[in-house]
Amino acid sequence: MARGERDGRERGGEREGEGRVKEMGSKGMGGGESSAWSNVEMGPPDAILGITEAYKRDDNPSKINLGVGAYRNDSGKPYVLECVKKAEKMMLEKGLDKEYAPISGPPEFCREAAKLAFGDDSSVLKEGRNVTVQGVSGTGSLRIGAAFFAKWYAKSKDFWIPTPSWGNHTPIFKHSGLDVKSYRYYEPNTCGFDFNGAMEDIGNIPEGSTIVLHACAHNPTGVDPNPEQWKEMSQLIKKRKLYPFFDMAYQGFASGDINKDAAALRTFIDDGHEVALAQSFAKNMGLYGERAGAFTIVCASKEEADRVMSQVKILIRPLYSNPPIHGSRIVATVLTDPTLRQMWLGEVKGMADRIINMRSKLVEGLKKEGSTRNWQHITDQIGMFCFTGLKPEQVERLTKEFSIYLTKDGRISVAGVTSGNVNYLANAMHTVTK
Ligand SMILES: Cc1ncc(COP(=O)(O)O)c(C=O)c1O
Repeated sequence: MARGERDGRERGGEREGEGRVKEMGSKGMGGGESSAWSNVEMGPPDAILGITEAYKRDDNPSKINLGVGAYRNDSGKPYVLECVKKAEKMMLEKGLDKEYAPISGPPEFCREAAKLAFGDDSSVLKEGRNVTVQGVSGTGSLRIGAAFFAKWYAKSKDFWIPTPSWGNHTPIFKHSGLDVKSYRYYEPNTCGFDFNGAMEDIGNIPEGSTIVLHACAHNPTGVDPNPEQWKEMSQLIKKRKLYPFFDMAYQGFASGDINKDAAALRTFIDDGHEVALAQSFAKNMGLYGERAGAFTIVCASKEEADRVMSQVKILIRPLYSNPPIHGSRIVATVLTDPTLRQMWLGEVKGMADRIINMRSKLVEGLKKEGSTRNWQHITDQIGMFCFTGLKPEQVERLTKEFSIYLTKDGRISVAGVTSGNVNYLANAMHTVTK
């Protein structure tokens, strides 16, 4: 049994009410006979989906949902990229079949995903040292990576994640049987990066451990190290003999430039690290529900890569056999067709720019409202999310008094801010913070 599963059971066993649930379960059967599932406890609802549910129930016409982690256009609507629509049309016209993809996903998709991350001229790719497989979007790619590390990484089962980190990191790694630990990352006093704290903690991580790094647009804080800080982190991680595992869910979506957003990953490659990487095309191509992502391990040689690939495939086969093809075909079409690729670069920049613009508009609005607080972190932070620094009681007031929905930690999805609601949001934020 995986350690994560065992932990889950132990925790479950400690929880109050387990007995009560059992009793209710047997009553439900009518004749005192126990149902097979009478021991199943009611789990807590997903924190973010719960916010959306509450938002839907609210009939205030000014309501805003800042909890959702998906891009919205300036009218607050989901956005299907034009390059994606065109790629789908081309795919339809080609009359493609629906046969299974290989276990590792369509080769063209894997090649293009790796090129996008490491760069067209990457020596890693030229030397065939990368093992790249399609994953079920970013989550599934992380999960494959976690399974591979749990089975084959002999040096340590410790995965060190930043505090805070994306809420799904801990369950993904724990479910794979890994031990999750954390290093300092966010400094609440400045709403910025705690570089000294991070360096001190990384300096104390035991040799051989794996360190998880958000390649750009850190979720949930929007706080990224600057290029110099990345360089120092890379050197320290090398000195400490840690294994860097990058999660890149927002390439292009942070700055609007796919190369700039991959700079941290490429710094590590230039420094000679053998990295692992999970990529997602959910945000940067708007393919949320298509589940297109990739997992890569950089190996020391082509020969090693072949061995690693054989074992990654052995892990994938009993999990889901082979990945869904529609999303990865779209990605491969967009990335290989010169016209569509240009179009995509423009559209991903358009999404990033709208978010950057809304950050500025929000700060302007707060100043206009008369707020004297320092809101610079809103524009310093990058990507879809912003850690506003609002306290839980201020968040509660935003929801109760203004029908503005966000997570209790004060995180807002800037994608939910539009020209139409930014002044209302600024007014509400000023009211609860003055
Ligand atoms: C840091 C991070 N990693 C991975 C993901 C994976 O998302 P998906 O599975 O939708 O590609 C997300 C999505 O929110 C994320 O923020």
